[in-house]
Amino acid sequence: MIPDLSTLAGPTGRLLAPGVALVHADARRWLASLPDRSVHAVVTDPPYGLVEYEEADHDKLRGGRGGVWRIPPTLDGVQRAPVPRFTVLGPREIEALRGFFDTMAWEWLRVLVPGGHVFLASNPLLSTGTFAAMAHAGFEKRGEIIRLVTTLRGGDRPKGAHAEFADVSVMPRAGWEPWGLFRKPLEGTVAENLRRWGTGGLRRRSEDEPFRDVIPCAPARGLERTIAPHPSLKPQRFLRQIVRAALPLGTGIVLDPFAGSGSTLAAAAALGVSALGVERDAAYVELAATAVPRLAALRVR
Ligand SMILES: C[S@@+](CC[C@H](N)C(=O)[O-])C[C@H]1O[C@@H](n2cnc3c(N)ncnc32)[C@H](O)[C@@H]1O
Repeated sequence: MIPDLSTLAGPTGRLLAPGVALVHADARRWLASLPDRSVHAVVTDPPYGLVEYEEADHDKLRGGRGGVWRIPPTLDGVQRAPVPRFTVLGPREIEALRGFFDTMAWEWLRVLVPGGHVFLASNPLLSTGTFAAMAHAGFEKRGEIIRLVTTLRGGDRPKGAHAEFADVSVMPRAGWEPWGLFRKPLEGTVAENLRRWGTGGLRRRSEDEPFRDVIPCAPARGLERTIAPHPSLKPQRFLRQIVRAALPLGTGIVLDPFAGSGSTLAAAAALGVSALGVERDAAYVELAATAVPRLAALRVR
């Protein structure tokens, strides 16, 4: 039985598209109101280093002042998007990050039905701790999805000594993004779990092709970014593949507790499946309200 979406979303939930609702709340508190075993998958792009979306640094980003966000210089007259610098996180921030993902992992384990998958976006610098919290809570690690994406992160020469160490990069130029793939323990076999809960496996791409763990996908650009100008916007082409895989029988509810501009919700709407999002920032909730139907209507190749 799939729970009623409006009941799950509660009185403050907003319906943004058929079967797709968004709640304006802090996920840390709000998730406690979801019943046990009420959602079928979690697909989310959380604040990787936590601080970048906390008020102090997020306000700096909005004021064009940086903080943990690096505002890159213009290149050929084009203003490039700000990127968070996770190398600046200290021991206190790393500790807070661990606590945050511990709490999240326990809640996700509780609200998922048996065999429900989590697709959790991260960053190569921080994913070890984040993914460890998931395993510690009791999730089974089922691999990682590697999104191949060319970025401008990393690859720089040592700061203040470019000429002296002209042949050195401090770290590699990033060409991929890890998405941890986890599963709540099954009840019985995969087949039994699929029959009872509709979860436990991943939807194949087609009869001849299984879901794959390497997905090349460029950053969202053009109209997609104009519709949803969120600093961490994920592309529809990627999210639609992930959301589709997350519901093996094509039914159930996908939860995104860090919905941002609503891109996961839009992917669900485009696929005709149900989704429930949570977002803490009032401006992003308003952005999602307009962006979700428009992103969902985009044709992507
Ligand atoms: C990495 S962004 C997700 C962006 C999204 N992938 C998109 O395409 O728009 C993370 C989002 O989580 C939100 N957020 C951070 N902490 C939160 C919390 N405790 N509860 C709910 N939302 C939170 C931030 O405001 C931000 O919009």
